[in-house]
Amino acid sequence: MSRKKCAALVLAAGQGTRMKSEKPKVLHAICGVSLVEHIVSTLSAVKMNKIVVVVGYKQELVRSSLKDSKADFVIQKEQLGTAHAVKCARGSLRDFSGDVLVIAGDVPLIQKSTLRSFVGFHRKNRSKATVLTTTVNAPKAYGRIVRDGQGHVIRIVEELDASAEEKAIKEINSGIYLFDAKLLFKEVVRIKRNRKKREFYLTDIVEALIEKNITVNAYRIADADQVRGINSRKDLGDLNRIMNKTTIRLLQESGVTILSEESTFIEQRVKIGRDTVIYPFTFIARDVTIGRNCKLGPFCKIRSKTRIKNDTTIGSFVELNRSSIDNGVTIKHLAYIGDAWIGKNVNIGAGTITANFDGKKKHKTVIKDRALIGANTVLVAPVTVGRSAKTGAGSVVCAGRNIPDNKIAVGVPAKVIK
Ligand code: UD1
Ligand code: CA
Repeated sequence: MSRKKCAALVLAAGQGTRMKSEKPKVLHAICGVSLVEHIVSTLSAVKMNKIVVVVGYKQELVRSSLKDSKADFVIQKEQLGTAHAVKCARGSLRDFSGDVLVIAGDVPLIQKSTLRSFVGFHRKNRSKATVLTTTVNAPKAYGRIVRDGQGHVIRIVEELDASAEEKAIKEINSGIYLFDAKLLFKEVVRIKRNRKKREFYLTDIVEALIEKNITVNAYRIADADQVRGINSRKDLGDLNRIMNKTTIRLLQESGVTILSEESTFIEQRVKIGRDTVIYPFTFIARDVTIGRNCKLGPFCKIRSKTRIKNDTTIGSFVELNRSSIDNGVTIKHLAYIGDAWIGKNVNIGAGTITANFDGKKKHKTVIKDRALIGANTVLVAPVTVGRSAKTGAGSVVCAGRNIPDNKIAVGVPAKVIK
């Protein structure tokens, strides 16, 4: 990005009544990551000079979901509309000169490359105001882009205020804009309440600028999915599906076999190595890493923060959670492995359970290289199974009763055989 500065302003104060939820809309997740987290991480990746998030409804929750980001927050006490939300950020961007990218908190699929081109377009045209638009078949939930006879943008009109002719317009407002900072804050305070909704509409800034002979440009993109807003549970379902499909396609392009796109769900920030094969009905949560040449599923659930190395087999009805699995491990059927560290070439028998929770705290299980865990073993954590050690079928290894290297333990409670 060129040297002129660009700040981002994320509007995330609304409740999102149409979601019918106790949770603020922007905290609903797409592929394991909340809407607002998606946007803030995309904005961080395009190296914005500053990111300001306008919060309001249940603001503590929204702020804590972004605690690892570099975003600043401003509070909009009462949600009086998108223009009012922008106005609330005036103080925090008072000394800022450059461009401000305003973006709604509910458009999670917007891509870095699109934002970069958008900024590029705005600057090449020496624009003071640019709106990102696209064309959709069902424009009802969006503001329509009204153009004059020469094709210049003259106004954005919401469904409620649109004439029949305007309702037929299929070019819509994405809710993403670029403004010269000084101009934005000068004009936004002059916007009046919308008569019908009694809210201050940021979209009304377009007409105000046109009246002052300031051109408002439109940057129109072809991929409408990227700017699809979330307003309902239906949208949430649709966008999860769209993002999952993209993730699967990218993994396939990088050398992963995924047999059933329909029944595989892979959240964001998952890494999978080449030649790994994913069988149907597999769920992989966010932040999971899987190595090369592994087999997963059918029917397995890999939960957050699990690390699986190369050449491992995770079979049917196996659930892994916050665990680290080394090279060559096999866990073929019916197992729960949580908070565990499993060494190289370990074999976990069918029905093995790590009992990691004592009702108050989670505890760790360590299973060292080449150990063999017999079918239906319960490992009550904290416990360690030594190198090349074994457990007999049906044994219950109690907490703290570590099995030394090369030894065999059997029974309930399990005892080491002499
Ligand atoms: C808005 C646009 C519409 C556009 C659409 C794109 C206006 C008036 N309309 O409509 O033209 O096509 O986005 O998705 O701007 N928010 C606040 N404070 C408020 C109100 C809203 O922070 O007082 C935030 C919400 O949390 C949300 C974003 O602004 O993240 C957009 O609000 P929303 O109510 O979803 O606007 P739309 O009706 O979708
Ligand atoms: Ca919206």
